[in-house]
Order: sequence, then C-alpha cells, then structure tokens
Amino acid sequence: MRLWLSAILLIGILASCQERQKNVYTIGFSQCTGDDEWRRSMLNGMRRELSFYPNARLIYKDAKANSRKQIEQIKALMSEGVDLLIISPNESDPVTPIVEEAYKQGIPVVIVDRRTSSAYYTAYVGGDNYEVGKVAGLYIARLLKGKGKVIEIAGLPTSSPASARHKGLTDAFAAYPNLKLVKTVNGGWEKPIAKKALEQQLQQHSDVDLVFAQNEVMALGAYEVFKERGWGKKVKIVGVDGLPGPLGDIQMVYDGIIDASALYPTGGEEAIRVAMNILRKEHFQKENLLQTAIIDSTNVRMIKLQTDKIIDHQNAIERQQKRIDDQINIYANQSNLLYLMTALFVAAILFGTVALYSSFENKKINKELKIKNEQILLQRNQIQEIAEKAQEATETKFRFFTNISHEFRTPLTLILGPLEDLLQVKNQTNSIRKNLILIQKNAQRLLWLVNQLMDFRKIESGKIQLRVTENDMVAFLRELMLPFEYMAVKRKIDFRMLTNLRTARVWFDTDMMDKVMFNLLSNAFKFTSDGGRIYIYVELHSDELVIKVEDNGTGMTVYEKEQAFEMFYQGADSTKGTGLGLPLSREFIELHQGSINVTSQKGEGAVFEIKLRLGDSHLREEDKAGETVNWSRTYPHFVTEAPDSDLFAAPKDTALLPTILLIEDNQDLREFLQLKLKSEFTIIDADEGNQGLAEAFNTVPDLILCDVMLPGMDGLKIASILKADLRTSHIPIVLLTAKSSIEQQIAGMQSGVDLYITKPFSPGFLLESIRSLLANREILRGYFIGDESNEERSALTMSNLDKKFLSNLKAVVLSKLSDSSLSVDSLAVELGLSRVQLFRKVKALLGYSINEYIQSMRLNKARHLLERSDESMSEIAYQAGFASATYFSTAFKSKYQLSPKDYRSKCKA
Ligand code: FRU
Repeated sequence: MRLWLSAILLIGILASCQERQKNVYTIGFSQCTGDDEWRRSMLNGMRRELSFYPNARLIYKDAKANSRKQIEQIKALMSEGVDLLIISPNESDPVTPIVEEAYKQGIPVVIVDRRTSSAYYTAYVGGDNYEVGKVAGLYIARLLKGKGKVIEIAGLPTSSPASARHKGLTDAFAAYPNLKLVKTVNGGWEKPIAKKALEQQLQQHSDVDLVFAQNEVMALGAYEVFKERGWGKKVKIVGVDGLPGPLGDIQMVYDGIIDASALYPTGGEEAIRVAMNILRKEHFQKENLLQTAIIDSTNVRMIKLQTDKIIDHQNAIERQQKRIDDQINIYANQSNLLYLMTALFVAAILFGTVALYSSFENKKINKELKIKNEQILLQRNQIQEIAEKAQEATETKFRFFTNISHEFRTPLTLILGPLEDLLQVKNQTNSIRKNLILIQKNAQRLLWLVNQLMDFRKIESGKIQLRVTENDMVAFLRELMLPFEYMAVKRKIDFRMLTNLRTARVWFDTDMMDKVMFNLLSNAFKFTSDGGRIYIYVELHSDELVIKVEDNGTGMTVYEKEQAFEMFYQGADSTKGTGLGLPLSREFIELHQGSINVTSQKGEGAVFEIKLRLGDSHLREEDKAGETVNWSRTYPHFVTEAPDSDLFAAPKDTALLPTILLIEDNQDLREFLQLKLKSEFTIIDADEGNQGLAEAFNTVPDLILCDVMLPGMDGLKIASILKADLRTSHIPIVLLTAKSSIEQQIAGMQSGVDLYITKPFSPGFLLESIRSLLANREILRGYFIGDESNEERSALTMSNLDKKFLSNLKAVVLSKLSDSSLSVDSLAVELGLSRVQLFRKVKALLGYSINEYIQSMRLNKARHLLERSDESMSEIAYQAGFASATYFSTAFKSKYQLSPKDYRSKCKA
C-alpha cells in the first residue's frame, strides 16, 4: 500500500514539473478594443505565432475602447505577475503612466499599433502611421491628378495613428496646391461616428472629390453614405488597413467599393516574436516599424490571391496546430498513462514478490501447522484415551465405593442394633456405658457418611426421585434445630431462628431438605468458634421462600467459595468434612428447581442462602409423594449426645503424674484418649495445631501425643518446630495418624518424632509405647548427672540438640563449680533460656532439679579430689564450691553414706 502511494505521488510530481516547464512565460495582452476584424486578425496572428512557443501562454484583456478600463486591466495583469505586457493603448496620454509604471517595475512592455506619449517602453511593433498617411496622400494626388477636394475622416484624435496619418497626408498634399483637404473630421475609428461626421460635411462640401478614411471601417461607412445618397461612384474613397479576407478592405478594393487602401499590418505575429526575444533575453529592436503600400485596382487581384493564399496557409497552420495540440494532449495523456502503468507495473512486481514470498511462507506455515495439527490430534486422542481411562477408573472407583458403602451398611446396622440392646441393659458400669455410647456415635457417623456417598451415586446415575409434600418449613426447621441446641449451649454459641413467619407452607422433599439443612448447620457449627453465633433466617419474597444460614465463623476465600459446591473439595481445612455435603445439598435443592448460594469473606463468617419456589406449578406430578408425610430425622444423633462429665473427670491427685499434651481435633477420639490415659498422666489438650504448639511451649510437657491431620498446623510441622527448639527438643513426640503410607511415616520420623502410630491403633499398645518412651528418658539421665558408670548410655537415643544442650550445661557448671554462689538464674542467662524453661528441661532430661544437678556435680568433683589429691577437707570443699566444710561433709555423707575422710582412707587403703 505504501509503495503504491509512493508511485502515484512520483507520477504526480513528474506531471506537475512538466506543467510548470510549459508555463514558464506568461504574456499579458491589453487590447484597446477587440470588436473589429483588424483587431481579431491581430489576435489570431499572435495566437498562431504563440503556438510555436509551447512554454508561453497569453492572457488577453479587451478594454472595449475605454482608457480607464484599460488602465485597470493593465494593473490586474501586473498584479497577476505576468512576465511581459503587450499593450495597444486606446489613447496615448491617459494610458502612458501605467505603461511607465510597469516598465519601471521591470516588466517588459511591448507597445503595438498605437503609441504612448513617452519613451518608457521596451519595444514598439506596428505600422509607420506617418508613412501610411503620406503614401495615401501621394496616391490621392496621383489619382486626382493634383487637383480636387478631399475630406479626411480621422481616427480618435487622442490616439497616435490618427495624428500621424493626418500629418503624413498633409505633408504629401503640400506639393499639390490644387489639391485641397477641405475638412478633417473625427470618425473615432468607428463606422457609425464616421458616417455621421461625413453626412454633416457633405452638406457644406457636396462637391468633394475624394474621402480619405483612416481605417477600413470608416471607409466602408463613407461608401454606405454615398450609396445611401445615390451618388454611386461620384466620390472616390481611399482607406487604410489593407485587411485580407472576405470582410477586409482588400476585398472592398477588389469589389470596387472603395478605390484604394494603404496597407497597415496588424503586426500580431511580429509582436509575439519580439516579446519572446525579450523574454528569452535574445536580441531585439526597440522600434519595429512595418512597411506600408497602396492596394488599388492595379494590384488588388494579385494581393488578394496572395493574401487568400496566406489565409489558406494560416488556416492550414491552425489546423496543423490543432492537430499538434491534440497530439500533445494525447501524448500528455499517454505519458501520464505510461507513468501510471509503470507505477502499476512496479507495484505489481512488488506485490507479486510479496505474494510469492507470502505464499512461500504460507506453505511453510501450513506445513508446520499440519505437523502441529497432527501432533495435537495425536495428543487429543491420547488425552481422550487417558480421559476415557480416567473416567473408567473413576467409574470403577465410584462403583467400588458404592458397593463397599453398601457392604458397610449391613455390618453397621448389625453393630448398631445389638448396641442399642446393650445400652438397654441395666446396672452397667459408667465406663462400659460410655464406651458403648462412643461406639454407637461413631457407627452412626459412619452410617451417615455411607448414606451420603450412596445419595451422591444415586444422583450421578439419575436414580434419585424427588418426593415432595407440602409442609410448614418454619416448624420443620425448628424441629431440625433441636438436636444442635445442646452443642450450642455447651459451646456458648448464640443459635436461633429469626423470622416473622409463623408458618411457611412450601412443597419440599423432607428427607432431602433434612439432609441439606443438617449439612449446613453441621458446617456452621464446625467453622464457628465457641461464643460465636449461628442464625437461621426464613423470609417470604414475592414468589419464593428464602432460608439463610448465617454464621460468624472462619468464612471462606474467593477460591473456597467457588469450589464450595464442587464434589470432594474440602477447603483449606481438610480436616473438617468429606467434601460431599455441599455438592449433595446443591443437587437436592436443584431437584426442587431451587437454588443454593454462599456469600462469605475470609474471617467474616458465611451466609448460605436457599431459595425455594412457592406453590407446586414448577413440580412434576411424579415428583409428588401423593400424601403429606410426617418427616423423621435421618441424620445421626452424634451431635445430640451430652458427654458424661464424671467419666472424663481428671483423677483427683495429678501433681506427681507425668504430663501429656494431647493435640487431637476429633472430639470423640480426644475424649477417648483422655479416658484411657488419665489414670497415669496429667492430660493437657488442644483441638487445633497452633494452639497445641503454644501449649507445648507454655507447659513443656513430658510427652506430646499429636494427630497428623490437624486444623491450623499439621502434626509433622508441630513436631519439626518443637524438635528444633532448645526449649522443647527433649519432649518425646508420638504422632497419631490415619495415613499409613511408608512415605508419611518416613516424613514423620524425619521431623524428629519419637514414635509414629497409625490408626486404628490398640489403646494398650499406645499406653505401653508412652510408658516405654518416658522410661527411656529416665535411663538417659544417668550420663548427664555425672554417673559415668552408667553402661547403658551408649544405647541411648537423644537428639543432637539435647546432647549439645546437656554438654553445654555440664561444661558451664564444671567451669563455675568452685563458685559457691552459682545459681539457676545465672545459668539460665548463660544458656539462653528462661528460668522455668531451664528448670523444666533439666528436670525432663535428667530427672533432677537444676540445683540437685549442680549439687551432684560438686559431690562428683569432691569425690575425684578425695581419690586423687592430698588436699585438706576445707580446700576440697572450697574447690568443689561448697560454702563450708561442714555442709560439704553432710552432703557427701548423705549421698555416699561415708564421711569425706572415711571415703579417702577407704580409697587409699
Ligand atoms: C482598428 C483600427 C484600425 C486602424 C487602427 C489604428 O481598431 O481602427 O482600423 O488602422 O485601429 O489604431
């Protein structure tokens, strides 16, 4: 496109250059009058001559015999910027100033025919008017044989030819005393004026022999006057001009209308030739006078023949010129066409090249595309194949899950049935009863999950059938809230229904709505902290019933909201729920032609909104149950049970028992483990990861029992943090998990845990494991309390961090042993721990208090000194850091059952 435009621009520039070259010279021609044949002949002559100069053009102005008009026209030509002026002044004096001005401005001026009154012009071209008058006068004298009366019809007196011709005439007549110029009248160069003036003179001079008219039109006027008078050829007529052609005075002489005419050439061609010489800076003459001659009956025939021939030639020249012009036009058009064609050709070549290149590139791209397409097709087929296989696998899994779920139902029912019987049995111990209730609750939870899975399968396979009846939703919801009330009270949750409606009759499947609402409320309780709130709103809008479950719990992120209704999505907190409940709820609500949505923000709770259409017009006949049924709850009652506080009460005296921190989010399991462990240990519990971690630092327990899958922070993370921290690195950690893969166990061990127990586990095994871990700690202590004889130390396992800590402790204590004021505070500062942390850590690792440890180190040193030196008792007491020899002796005796003195003599013996 750009190339195309450039080509067109180039052609335009070339064409305009050509134009400019042609119009190099502009000649302005101011004609005094253009109405007579003589002037027309002058103009034709100019044009003919100009045709030989293609680079000159003529601007022609006709002043219509008006000098003022002529002055204006000359000014206009000057301001148009003409290169040269040709002027035939109407009158000499009035036109002279403007001619001088032009000349002085540097515009060359060629004066033709009539003259101005000054010499300020570049050149003059025209007949010699004096000569014309003289030649005519001499001819008249000859014609009248030197005797007779003559009337002269002169031109405009203010124009130069009129006076010059008159002068020539009178000068010629001077030699002929009998030749009388009886009157010179003003004919104004025009026939009507001339005729009128002549008529007047004839009244006085009826005996006139000849009329001399200064131009051809006035001569014709004289002829007409005489003709009108019926004078025939009585008065002779001599004119001026000698204009050829049928309307010229040569024809008039030829026809005998007038007797003779003095040739006065127009000089059109000559004027142009002189002008072009001036413009082209070639040689020219200032005065270019044209010859004159008499045309009369003696030579008119020949002259007419010649002038006719000239006219023919001129016509031929004009025709040729026209042809040339046509040819030039054709040439110009063709050269433009040629430029255009050239440009088109160039463009075509360029476009062709581009097209060729593009087609080559296209072919290449197409080839690549084809290969890519083939690859994509192949990949698509592979993906399709994989998808089909995945679909098949999912199907198989689903089928397996459904089948196995189905299989679970029977044994679960067989567990639940006998359990109910067992629970009926009277006089059971509290402990047995509580265990039975725990079994029942968990069996029911399992059954609930299995049922959910099967519901989903039914929906997937389109086998679920809606069975709607018209029921009071308000009453339905109130009843549904009952089982949650115990938990609400226990966890101090503000749980209530907010509605203006006393009843709200809607068509719904009670079983499905029961599951939906139970699920929404369970979720609300799961994600709302103790002391929070859960409100159920029931509102009647124009054609629908809106139920909202609003909580101020943990809320959801945008992503969690988007995924909430997706199957198996469990949110960030994967420990709460199966990911089945919400998708199932949506399916159930959509079966009702209703909608369920959630609005929530992280940290600001959530609102689940269900919309059910009023009336039954949107439901199919087969969706209706046929009769109103009373609903029966299908959800498990595990939320309803109040735990027996007696059973979970802590043992009375726990001060001496080792402390276990239990981090477990499953309330039932937590309570079960407390029940199992409380007789031997003091239990501190936490149901969330971060809380568990904080408790570990706060309480520095003797052992931590921790689930792997936890809300907040998982067990592996907790273990790795605690094991890397000096304050807690010594605490044995037991991880409990349902994930039994080897990788998980390796990860657990890598995080520094001491034991990894997979669910389901035997409570007895767990108890034994805890006992043995704590016993191992006891064995550990020997080495670090300085009892070097402890042979078992090499078999001990202790983290590097703890070993390093104990070595440090030992080194610091040994270096300061002689300082009797060595205190726990100064040691804690030295070791970078708090007083309490140092105390607990030393106690946990060594079983001693820090003071007991220092004491034991002092006694050890003293024992060495007693064995290997002869220093005095008070010296030894001082070196070992005892404040006095007496205190040293008492302390030594209480540990080794010998006084220091006795010990030394026994050693030396
Ligand atoms: C034409 C004309 C001629 C005459 C000349 C004098 O207008 O009248 O016939 O010779 O002008 O200027």
